Amino acid sequence: MAQKLAFGPFRVIQYRILSRSQFRRTFLLAFQAGTPLVRSLFASLTLLAMAVAVPVAVAQKIQLSVDVSRSGTKIDRNLFGQFAEHLGHGAYEGIWVGTDSKIPNTRGIRSDVVAALKALRVPDVRWPGGCFADEYHWRKGIGPQRTVTLNPNWGGVIEPNTFGTHEFMDFLDQIGAEAYLSVNVGSGTPQEASEWLEYLTTAQPTTLAKERAANGHPAPYKVAFLGIGNESWDCGGNMTPDYYLSQFKIYSRFVRNFNPNQQDKQQMLKIAVGPGGGESRWTEWTEAIMKAYQNHTWSWDMNGLSMHFYTVVKWPPSYASVGFGETEYAQILKSTREMNDLVEKHSAIMDKYDPGKKVALVVDEWGGWYAPLPGSNPGFLAQQNSLRDAVLAALNLNIFARHADRVRMANIAQMINVLQAMILTDKEKIVLTPTYYVYKMYVPFQDSTFVPIAFDAGTYTHSDITLPRLDAIAAKDRAGKLWLAITNVDPNQPAEIEVSLAGINAKSAAGETLSASKVDSVNRFDAPNTVVPKPVSAKAQDGKLTLELAPKSVTVIAVEQ
Ligand code: AHR
Repeated sequence: MAQKLAFGPFRVIQYRILSRSQFRRTFLLAFQAGTPLVRSLFASLTLLAMAVAVPVAVAQKIQLSVDVSRSGTKIDRNLFGQFAEHLGHGAYEGIWVGTDSKIPNTRGIRSDVVAALKALRVPDVRWPGGCFADEYHWRKGIGPQRTVTLNPNWGGVIEPNTFGTHEFMDFLDQIGAEAYLSVNVGSGTPQEASEWLEYLTTAQPTTLAKERAANGHPAPYKVAFLGIGNESWDCGGNMTPDYYLSQFKIYSRFVRNFNPNQQDKQQMLKIAVGPGGGESRWTEWTEAIMKAYQNHTWSWDMNGLSMHFYTVVKWPPSYASVGFGETEYAQILKSTREMNDLVEKHSAIMDKYDPGKKVALVVDEWGGWYAPLPGSNPGFLAQQNSLRDAVLAALNLNIFARHADRVRMANIAQMINVLQAMILTDKEKIVLTPTYYVYKMYVPFQDSTFVPIAFDAGTYTHSDITLPRLDAIAAKDRAGKLWLAITNVDPNQPAEIEVSLAGINAKSAAGETLSASKVDSVNRFDAPNTVVPKPVSAKAQDGKLTLELAPKSVTVIAVEQ
């Protein structure tokens, strides 16, 4: 990797004090040349200067260099995927309000949420879980009569099944995203899952296809991604790697996609359950799955290995999502950087068995997981979303982009009202979070081409925590325009940066920057614009861009030539 993330000093304090001999010479010359009045003036000024001689701090510019002719891997747009589980107010209220609701909706799906998500160009949505997926039975969520069940994983509340297969696919249609279905391996059967896929995808007049048509959708649906189980080592059934593998092979063989448009191009990609951490338990899991993959036969296949990693610091989640200070800011950001090590650790194992990188590492659950909001149902995983989460999101997206040859899909947890959400709703009210704005600012990076960027990150230190102060990625979009995303982690100091550009004649650069007064600044229903992007521009001269980044900020700029 061309990136240089050295922990060098970012600021040079230059003490501009004349050396003793220079000082003496200057003083004597002036003293000898002047009248008594001038002499006494010189003497007093000199004494004053000596008394108040203070260091003059000159902030050294942080140098970044980008050579546009050296482009790398595609940054797959699926790195910006979402996850919507039947959990708390994620699906119900967050997406589904029902056709009778006073909240403006299209066929029961709230219109404000759809409009906000369209601006993010959401590539795919993982659904219906999470742990919920391994207890989900799709038949209960189709047709005019829905079966009312329970959601034992998440607060034991009623699951009305009113938001089912057709409603989810309609929602995807409205926001323009692909389906990433998680099928039930824990408490379901291969037959149940294979019938679900037949129901969804066949164009032939089977009984299931006719039932789909009777339920309002004669044309087959497209299912782009299929997750086979979820955390099968834990809430998905406490399986050993070998047991899971035997299940995976059966599901991979029999859960077919029959959509005629997905037989050649756009084939459905099958994603296996992967690790949930970096300890030996997880590396052994990755080893077992990838070793089996290496020897797989025609009758089963795998296109992705999932990985889950939450920024939580300690379990159960106890960090506050709002009302915290710099210590918690630094601790959470230190913890989130473990994502890099995990990606590299599991990629190295995958490289052993799959050097051609056919299998993607799919980070389909990630984000900050904090203590439930006071007064909320703890099973609903409701939390606020602060400027810290914006910085956290940018750092993780940058990690994924730097490993885009292997990490080709990621789904932040979760889209609305749950964990590190894009959107918070309360009945008819809606607010867009700082994380939402990072995703919006990063839209140009979807399906862009990674361009290596070299920089000295410098350091930010708080108490016993030292972090790289700066993080940055660069990429060319599909039209060839160069984009830079630069994060200043330091919550106290602005960063003067100078970007040297080779292979491009930069005339100007402009974009948006996201910051706020406090590390825990949040957007609220009654104050929705506390953390919103503001326009920013850089000075372009002699092949260099200069700009100042606010403390604790995420900035995305496009370079015009
Ligand atoms: O995102 C919340 C839960 O976290 C998911 O349901 C589960 O897969 C994970 O443990």
